[in-house]
Amino acid sequence: MKIPIIIDCDPGHDDALMLMLAFGSGKFDIKAVTTSAGNQTQEKTLNNALKILTLIGANVPVFRGAEKPLFRNLIIADYVHGETGLDGPALPKPAFEAQALSAVEGIAAILRSSEEKITIVPTGPLTNIATFLLAYPHLKDKIERISLMGGGIFRGNMTPLAEFNIFADPEAAHLVFKSGIPITMCGLDVTHKALVFQKDIDLLRSIGNNTGKAAADLMDFFSIFYRTNRTELDGGAALHDPCAIAWLIEPEMFTSKPCFVDVEINGTLTTGTTVVDFYDVTGKEPNVEVVYDIDRERYIKMLYNAICQLP
Ligand code: BDR
Ligand code: CA
Repeated sequence: MKIPIIIDCDPGHDDALMLMLAFGSGKFDIKAVTTSAGNQTQEKTLNNALKILTLIGANVPVFRGAEKPLFRNLIIADYVHGETGLDGPALPKPAFEAQALSAVEGIAAILRSSEEKITIVPTGPLTNIATFLLAYPHLKDKIERISLMGGGIFRGNMTPLAEFNIFADPEAAHLVFKSGIPITMCGLDVTHKALVFQKDIDLLRSIGNNTGKAAADLMDFFSIFYRTNRTELDGGAALHDPCAIAWLIEPEMFTSKPCFVDVEINGTLTTGTTVVDFYDVTGKEPNVEVVYDIDRERYIKMLYNAICQLP
């Protein structure tokens, strides 16, 4: 049976490959895509989601999300994703429009009318999901799990300890991690092992379809940042977001551990850090399946197979 999911993303190069994996795998009943402001402004991430869905021939409802974090100013990652948020390839113009409802209203309508529980897959800042939980607390039980990309155990990419998606809207993340919903967290510990090298980019391009070409062009651009700024990754680019989807398909591909996790919102040095009790020093009940290692070769193969199924 296909896994029913709603994807909340901020495309973003790795978000784009996450969408390709989600749709191409054939493993999901994708109810909707909602967009967060993160890698670029809401206007751009929404437009990018529509472009990628058009490219891969997926016509699902798309809902526009929040323009900015709950309480803080918007920060964007144009230094990784460029002016458009998806710099690199020539992408088709969107063939369809976003729905009239907002992301929060859209998620509520889908959950309300669903007889089965639905998994949410956020790969950007958690603003939409937190707002949904505040506005519709009675629908929380309709969420099966949240499988997200964000955070980390021992490292950060915005500050020494904070990762972009959590750092961008820490109050939203705090609310989501405290929600009691089962969470899978694919943070930087695993995503910095989910590396894409030049040979993998060449492999995607060799598929010969439009999606494979766009995926390779996206990874060419995305790799510039990693090859310049993360030289310890030996030329690899950290393909973060597809991990949150891949874990739902093949959790055995990963190594993980249930841990208690909270999000720092008042730190002087650590705002936006996911504080992971990896060694169970607090004895608090684990609320998060913390993912920290991956079979990289299998991950690339999974991406390859999914992209082969797309136009
Ligand atoms: C996360 O931040 C964004 O730039 C990426 O799309 C990913 O979701 C990695 O820290
Ligand atoms: Ca993202």
